[in-house]
Amino acid sequence: MPSATARPSLQYIHRSETDKIIQAIVDDGCCIIKNFTTPEAVERVNADTRPYFDADKPWKGDLFPPETRRCARMASRSKTYREEWLVDPLVDKLTSVFVDKTTSNFYGQTKHTYTSRAIINTALSMEIGPGGKAQRLHRDDKNHHIEHVDQTKTGYRIGSDLSMAFLVPGIATRYENGATMAIPGSHLWDQERAPKVEEACCAEMEIGDAYVMLGGTYHGGGANQTTDTKRPMHGLFFCRGFLRTEENAYLAYSKEDVLSWSPEVQRIMGFTVSSPNIGFIDFVHPVRWYAGDYDPNQPGDLDESQETPMAS
Ligand SMILES: [Fe+2]
Repeated sequence: MPSATARPSLQYIHRSETDKIIQAIVDDGCCIIKNFTTPEAVERVNADTRPYFDADKPWKGDLFPPETRRCARMASRSKTYREEWLVDPLVDKLTSVFVDKTTSNFYGQTKHTYTSRAIINTALSMEIGPGGKAQRLHRDDKNHHIEHVDQTKTGYRIGSDLSMAFLVPGIATRYENGATMAIPGSHLWDQERAPKVEEACCAEMEIGDAYVMLGGTYHGGGANQTTDTKRPMHGLFFCRGFLRTEENAYLAYSKEDVLSWSPEVQRIMGFTVSSPNIGFIDFVHPVRWYAGDYDPNQPGDLDESQETPMAS
């Protein structure tokens, strides 16, 4: 790969400059928020996730390289993540602009206006170990089956995306240790344009910075080319608040109910994985998780349609 300096660049904007951050996301689909949080907060979240990273096992399948470790359920596993980052006013502002959805309609003769607020899609930290290969460039919103239209000529229409993510690195990220690769402007591409690694730049960050991107921005974890550096990344992944069912079946039915149903009923009631990768629990298919029918020492692909990557 050529050096990071030959690539297009990301905008680095201090967290106090909210309007500039919003404009950068409109223009590029992503940016770096300088001083998003404090080094002390990052250290606390690093410590909160350490036992879970150390206990996690190598993935067997395509979804993650074997060097990656995962820590899900971050809202309960890290008080700092929950009480400082999840409710950060800047996060709230950016999700309200790019993810919240407001529509109006008539109920009889009365016009009603409703706003659905963004919610966490997954509260997940990941750590890429030495030797971990780069992820393929992808759009996170593929899981929600969004169909992007070409906006390269019209400019970005706010509301085109239904998700956005904040990535807070646990260490300073560099090209060498697997800094996230991102393609500024790729949120404007239609479905047919394939991302090229040569188009991506490195989201190099200092401790306390955060990378923010829309669900339609092409990106991927970089290769960790070090021999001794683990690269934790704490993620806040948001989606539209209505991307769930009207009736909350997960609270309405017991484990015993669900396990007594046929696979077809389990699927219709939402206790399977919507391809790709929606509805897992601890990266396990929900019915198998309920039944205890999995080996925690051998995590593997949970989506049978996980495709084989093209040779590169
Ligand atoms: Fe991703």
